[in-house]
Amino acid sequence: MTNIFDLGGKVAIVTGANTGIGQAIALSLAQAGADIAAVGRTPAQETVEKVRALGRKAEIVSADLSSIEPVQRVVDETIDKLGGLDILINNAGIIRRADSVDFSEADWDAVIDTNLKATFFLAQAAGRHMLAQGSGKIVNIASLLSFQGGIRVPSYTASKSGVAGLTKLLANEWAAKGVNVNAIAPGYIATNNTAALQADETRNRQIQERIPAGRWGEASDIGGAAVFLSSSAANYIHGHVLAVDGGWLAR
Ligand SMILES: NC(=O)c1ccc[n+]([C@@H]2O[C@H](COP(=O)([O-])OP(=O)(O)OC[C@H]3O[C@@H](n4cnc5c(N)ncnc54)[C@H](OP(=O)(O)O)[C@@H]3O)[C@@H](O)[C@H]2O)c1
Repeated sequence: MTNIFDLGGKVAIVTGANTGIGQAIALSLAQAGADIAAVGRTPAQETVEKVRALGRKAEIVSADLSSIEPVQRVVDETIDKLGGLDILINNAGIIRRADSVDFSEADWDAVIDTNLKATFFLAQAAGRHMLAQGSGKIVNIASLLSFQGGIRVPSYTASKSGVAGLTKLLANEWAAKGVNVNAIAPGYIATNNTAALQADETRNRQIQERIPAGRWGEASDIGGAAVFLSSSAANYIHGHVLAVDGGWLAR
């Protein structure tokens, strides 16, 4: 029987692959059979070694996605090193926290440039290749703050609400051309991104108490959704933002 989740023979770009959710997604995609271009500003040596230990190919592609200057090179280098491009996981992202009344332009621009602008232009560069080959899967990493307002993170909320909107827009343009664009909205996942919240005893307890699953998510909790949306099992899913949040949004 054919395995509809099989990613054998596929090549995936994962941005921000050195740690956290990006590393976990890279390993899950590799377990499903994909070869991995581990893209980021910090070399993802550990991720590459773990993917290779799974018997898949993996290459580091260095790129600082605080500007869109490297996006075309990321696509070209991936195709050059791994022989193709079938899946893009737009995961790299940052967060800046301050009261809105004090929020700086620098913290606005930094977050929007990485989380929203680079996400769109990398999707564009990868999308051009996928449209030409008539197939491809793009999975953007959104957030609960694609649905909710959050607090003290205005540029992050704007960026992730924007990512949800762009996911739907790109799906509208590319769905009939064989390219699926979807997103995953992780809940509260224990990574560097949420270190400040985890360290704040009160916030940590309040968050945990509100999660129906009764615990923070692990980065590995996101991997299955990424495999699903990257696979032929998701061929008729377009423009969806899939929450993987322990039930947070259901509450
Ligand atoms: N953790 C959560 O609860 C949560 C919830 C919802 C959404 N998310 C989203 O999930 C994604 C991954 O976050 P995470 O939780 O795994 O946090 P993380 O551990 O901080 O990982 C963020 C990744 O993005 C990379 N990155 C940041 N700026 C970059 C740049 N300019 N160029 C290239 N790579 C860059 C980081 O590389 P460096 O190591 O070099 O900084 C790192 O690999 C982000 O988009 C985040 O917004 C996280």
